[in-house]
Amino acid sequence: MESPLKKLALVTGANKGIGFEVARQLAASGCRVFLGARDKVRGEVAAATLQREGRDVRYLPIDLDDLATIGAAYREIHADFGHLDILVNNAGIAGQGDGLPSSCSLDAIERAFRVNFLGTVAVTQAMLPLLRKASSASIVNVSSGLGSLTKSGDPAWSHVAAKFLGYAASKAALNMLTVQLAYELHGTSIKVNSVAPGYTATDLNQHRGTQSIPEGAAEIIRLALLADDGPTGTFSSAHGIVPW
Ligand SMILES: NC(=O)c1ccc[n+]([C@@H]2O[C@H](COP(=O)([O-])OP(=O)(O)OC[C@H]3O[C@@H](n4cnc5c(N)ncnc54)[C@H](OP(=O)(O)O)[C@@H]3O)[C@@H](O)[C@H]2O)c1
Repeated sequence: MESPLKKLALVTGANKGIGFEVARQLAASGCRVFLGARDKVRGEVAAATLQREGRDVRYLPIDLDDLATIGAAYREIHADFGHLDILVNNAGIAGQGDGLPSSCSLDAIERAFRVNFLGTVAVTQAMLPLLRKASSASIVNVSSGLGSLTKSGDPAWSHVAAKFLGYAASKAALNMLTVQLAYELHGTSIKVNSVAPGYTATDLNQHRGTQSIPEGAAEIIRLALLADDGPTGTFSSAHGIVPW
């Protein structure tokens, strides 16, 4: 077993974009970070970048579409540390063929649900025994404003025309994971919250987002490092609470 003093964090989909920035900032704040990525080369290159900055970061192979990698990731953390303090469920896709409800491809909807929802549920279930071992733990589900049913139905919302049924429904489902798991874990020291990072310039949107990556990461970092008496079962952005 290695030193239990540093907070241990796992960030999925952390080889680039918002996840990489979250891994970078958690490591800079003193956490030991497992940088989760599905591709070995991309993951190792990203981890090496942060190691060169003097950070305590280790690449952890984890593909949300492959249960075997999720089980192996659990076993690696369990063997070396026996617990986990922070889980940032960041990995996500916005698939080709997604779009308007009248015409988007069923395959695109299925892919979005498999990664953004089912994969995240699988990682969360696998890591829960480790999170239960922490003195206080935080799960952050990286959702999206597009997953808000209230905003999606508001004709005055600035992004109301962005209709991607598979992506939005998978993020709404992810929010249900937050609500139900927060309820189930009420009374434990584990907090579960959803974050809408905001429209951020990354590969996900061909860098059309209007925010910088550090801006997109800010609310995720805040919730990952919540004080022990912080909230659970919330959906928020850097601007405050987001309606479900
Ligand atoms: N950018 C925005 O405007 C925005 C807005 C709202 C919410 N979000 C959410 O923020 C999160 C991060 O997105 P981003 O904008 O940073 O996008 P990104 O740059 O495309 O990064 C997505 C990350 O997820 C990983 N990933 C995809 N499928 C995976 C799988 N099956 N298993 C493991 N990792 C997988 C990618 O790995 P590869 O490099 O191997 O593909 C990549 O590391 C996502 O959940 C996204 O839905 C983003």
